[in-house]
Amino acid sequence: MPFGVYVHIPFCASRCDYCDFATWTDRAHLIDCYVDACVQDLDRRATRGELVPATSVFFGGGTPSLLSAPQLLRILDAIPRGSTPEVTVECNPDSVDEAKLEAYRAGGVNRLSLGVQSMRPHVLAALGRTHDRANVGRAVHAARAAGFERVNLDLIYGTPGESVDDWRSTLDDALALEPTHVSAYALTVEPATPLGRAVAAGTRGAPDDDDQADKYAIADDRLRAAGLEWYELSNWSRPGDECAHNLLYWNQDEYTAIGCAAHGHTGGRRWWNVRTPERYIDRVASGQPTESGAEVLDYERKREESVVLALRTRAGAAVSERARAVVDELSGLGLLGEVDGRIVLTRRGRLVANELTVRLLAAGASDPVAVGTR
Ligand SMILES: C[S@@+](CC[C@H](N)C(=O)[O-])C[C@H]1O[C@@H](n2cnc3c(N)ncnc32)[C@H](O)[C@@H]1O
Ligand code: SF4
Repeated sequence: MPFGVYVHIPFCASRCDYCDFATWTDRAHLIDCYVDACVQDLDRRATRGELVPATSVFFGGGTPSLLSAPQLLRILDAIPRGSTPEVTVECNPDSVDEAKLEAYRAGGVNRLSLGVQSMRPHVLAALGRTHDRANVGRAVHAARAAGFERVNLDLIYGTPGESVDDWRSTLDDALALEPTHVSAYALTVEPATPLGRAVAAGTRGAPDDDDQADKYAIADDRLRAAGLEWYELSNWSRPGDECAHNLLYWNQDEYTAIGCAAHGHTGGRRWWNVRTPERYIDRVASGQPTESGAEVLDYERKREESVVLALRTRAGAAVSERARAVVDELSGLGLLGEVDGRIVLTRRGRLVANELTVRLLAAGASDPVAVGTR
């Protein structure tokens, strides 16, 4: 059975204008204590028998690559792992060099995810990023030199001020670096960010839906032409290089959560840790649970969620025959296809995935599937 460990590293060198993740730019002095707390939390969970050998480990952030190799590897070493685990570290192109990446690689990290967002200077400036295109090239070359075969690049499309040609050249420049995986996200305006406040105040424009839809289609064409196939709405990979850890989330598999603001799913419960690094460090030091909340999904919600998540993926969803009329109508419109009895979104369907999911659920798509029909 797959089992994942997500480790949240809530530190960044500077805050990007659009980002609403749990991360802080003024707490680098906490890093050593935070690493100690993660290790202690892992040791306790292992003693309590809560950890089985992990098939995937994901250091997410924030900016995990702000951790020195000894700091990051102390945490990794405390995680029981299976024989060939996928171990990913999210990196900011500004905060990596070959020596650090070599040490990560030697310590068992085998996949990197770089936050690139754009290759165009004015788009990077509009997003409040601190790196430039040359940094991205240097980071990818350092990753290759350090022996990393699996490299993901995160991109963002639809930033106001980004033209279609800007997006094309971002894709071309990113693909020239031969990533094995690309995540391309539509810029989302989060209210509690500098971008969100500027859009609310009318001093900056909001992303345009049609522009983002056009850019999604351009991305899908270019990525596919480069040998990267979509396997989730926002994710493309070389065959076999899908992110095993992200697949855990979409397949409703089990994973534990280490660090502040991290979410876990174990024993049929979904739970999350206290939000700030200070509180997480305090809880671990005083032997208290790190959890700040939890929920148990009943059967109905679990099925609903499985349809929502599965519809995001290339594998698609098994849906109830009760939704047959709506499935046929949406298929007739070219928005859905059926593969091996499962409903899969077409590219046009992927552009309106949320609306389709709502319609399918309202039609009873997540009702128990009758045995033998799907
Ligand atoms: C938590 S960040 C980690 C990567 C690393 N901190 C960096 O930014 O270089 C993960 C990714 O989420 C995406 N992201 C964050 N906020 C977003 C937003 N408001 N809209 C779209 N994508 C976003 C970015 O592509 C980012 O690389
Ligand atoms: S996008 Fe990445 S680097 Fe920027 S603030 Fe968010 S986590 Fe930090």
